[in-house]
Amino acid sequence: MEAGHRVEVMHGVNLDQLGRRDPDHYGSMTLTQLELRISDAAAELGLAVRFFQTNHEGAFVEHLHGLGDLADGVILNPGAWTHYSYAIRDALELAGLPAVEVHLSDVDSREPWRRLSVIGDLCVARVAGRGPDGYREALRCLLEELSE
Ligand code: DQA
Repeated sequence: MEAGHRVEVMHGVNLDQLGRRDPDHYGSMTLTQLELRISDAAAELGLAVRFFQTNHEGAFVEHLHGLGDLADGVILNPGAWTHYSYAIRDALELAGLPAVEVHLSDVDSREPWRRLSVIGDLCVARVAGRGPDGYREALRCLLEELSE
C-alpha cells in the first residue's frame, strides 16, 4: 500500500449545502456524508486526506497559499467559482501542487456558462458528472500522478 501521500480536498461555495441542493444534479448526500465516503476511498488507497470548505473566496485563496507545505496534492471542487474566479486560478498556480478538478454534476450538459473552467488547464485531470464516485476517481488520478 502507498504510504500516505497527503491530499487536501477543497470544497468551495455552496458545497456545505449539499443535501439541500437540487438532487437531480447533486444527489441527496450531505457534505459530511460525502467526506466520510471520500475518507473511506482514501484509506483504501493509502492516502492521507484532509478537508476544507468555505463560502468565502478569499479564505479559499488563502488556504491555497498555505498548502504547499501541508499537502502533496489537491482535489478541488470550487463550485461556481470554477467558472470565473481568476483569483482562485492564480492561487492554485501558486500552490504548485498536482491538482484534480471535480464536479458532482455533469457541468458540460448544463447551462453553457458551466462549461468554462478557469482552472482546468492547471489540473492533471477533471472528473465531472460522476457524483460522489467522482472523488474516488480523482483520488486514483492523484495517486497515479504522485507515484510517477
Ligand atoms: C458544481 C458545479 C458548479 O457549476 C456549481 O456552481 C456548483 C457545484 C458541481 O459539483 O457539480 O456549486 O461544482
